[in-house]
Amino acid sequence: MSTIPEQNPLLELSPQDLRAHAAAALTRARERSVALTDAVDDEDLVRQHSKLMSPLVWDLAHIGSQEELWLVRDVGGREPLRPDIDDLYDAFQHPRADRPALPLLGPAEARAYVKEVREKAFDVLETAPLEGRRLTESAFAFGMITQHEQQHDETMLATHQLRKGEPVLHAPEPPRAPARKLPAEVLVPGGRFTMGTTAEPWALDNERPAHEVDVPAFVLDTTPVTCGAYVEFLESGGYHDRRFWSEPGWAYRQEHDITAPRFWHREPDGWWRTRFGVRERVPENEPVVHVSYYEADAYARWAGKRLPTEAEWEKAARHDSASGRSRRFPWGDEEPTAEHANLGQRHLRPAEAGAYPAGASPLGVHQLIGDVWEWTSTDFHGYPGFAAFPYREYSEVFFGPEYKVLRGGSFGTDAAAIRGTFRNWDYPIRRQIFSGFRCARDPRPGEAG
Ligand code: AVJ
Ligand code: FE
Repeated sequence: MSTIPEQNPLLELSPQDLRAHAAAALTRARERSVALTDAVDDEDLVRQHSKLMSPLVWDLAHIGSQEELWLVRDVGGREPLRPDIDDLYDAFQHPRADRPALPLLGPAEARAYVKEVREKAFDVLETAPLEGRRLTESAFAFGMITQHEQQHDETMLATHQLRKGEPVLHAPEPPRAPARKLPAEVLVPGGRFTMGTTAEPWALDNERPAHEVDVPAFVLDTTPVTCGAYVEFLESGGYHDRRFWSEPGWAYRQEHDITAPRFWHREPDGWWRTRFGVRERVPENEPVVHVSYYEADAYARWAGKRLPTEAEWEKAARHDSASGRSRRFPWGDEEPTAEHANLGQRHLRPAEAGAYPAGASPLGVHQLIGDVWEWTSTDFHGYPGFAAFPYREYSEVFFGPEYKVLRGGSFGTDAAAIRGTFRNWDYPIRRQIFSGFRCARDPRPGEAG
């Protein structure tokens, strides 16, 4: 096991450059929030498009509220701007279904509020000391708030996907996959690796601390499962065959009469889907998206495989056997570029399987970062030595068997809010998120070398 730490670009920056980096990250997040909320009219902003989601105007003011709490009040020690609305935008006070009925800030007020908070937050960023306090070390609080805004931007994108009506979001098509066919699976040799991180300055509490995990040899799909492969499961009656489903998965399938991924429709000439208001044929070679954990788990069993554990996923994404180190990303320690991964809402769909050869891991596993969140078989728990920071409600209150971990980020996730250690979680029934999966299996006798 190597002791060479991850190389982190943030650790090399001077205080001025660190402030500039944080300001640029906050500004990028805000551009995204503005684009997602300016895309629809006021009536649409206050509407609840699904019981699963907040009105977009709630997300917007909630972004401002968290920024006020952490950057203006806590880091800056400034006077509260709107102490009267703290409760309205506390996600734990009001479930999503109840939010439209609250006396929320209207669109114009919400926009003015987030703007005022941002001006104050930038003022704090210019003057606050960036050492002496864990919250501000390496500008962590600014990174945390950037990630929080980007996370809500992905949530708002999911709300757009649930929205009825004419398309309002547009983006160029993602790159196509090269014609060269990839091997279907990759063998990951057994052994210890470093999971999680201590060195990554903007890593959130649940990614910490770095710890060694022994992962026996396993075989992993080279790419996420494609729509074409998923259609075979569907067409062979997989949704109606009890054998492939876990007990809670079957109960969920029956109760909600789930017969295909969310947003798919069967037409006489094949499978179609609706994507941000556009009806289109389900694309054969694109990773399947909008499936629940239970559907992913049933597919894996149908295929004679299983879902990877979270440790298997991270080992495939980070372990470099040549150096013995864990990398920040499958391709190395550098921040993601457009060549590495489909991130940042640059494209409004996953890219074809194999479309990001430059983003592959040393063993040749593709598209671990970007395209679709990948379900793992692991329940969401703290790592050994976990300590909630800076607040229990980010992760700790969700630890337990009712949530499954998802990894890798989707086309809707910004680079600021993803890395090889990043952990997302959701209920196993959820599929309005940009969720897909890949399969794993144990090596066959003789296969592990
Ligand atoms: C990490 C995506 C599960 O959106 O519920 C946002 C992130 N936490 N505001 C979520 C989050 C507080 C969280 N997930
Ligand atoms: Fe939030």
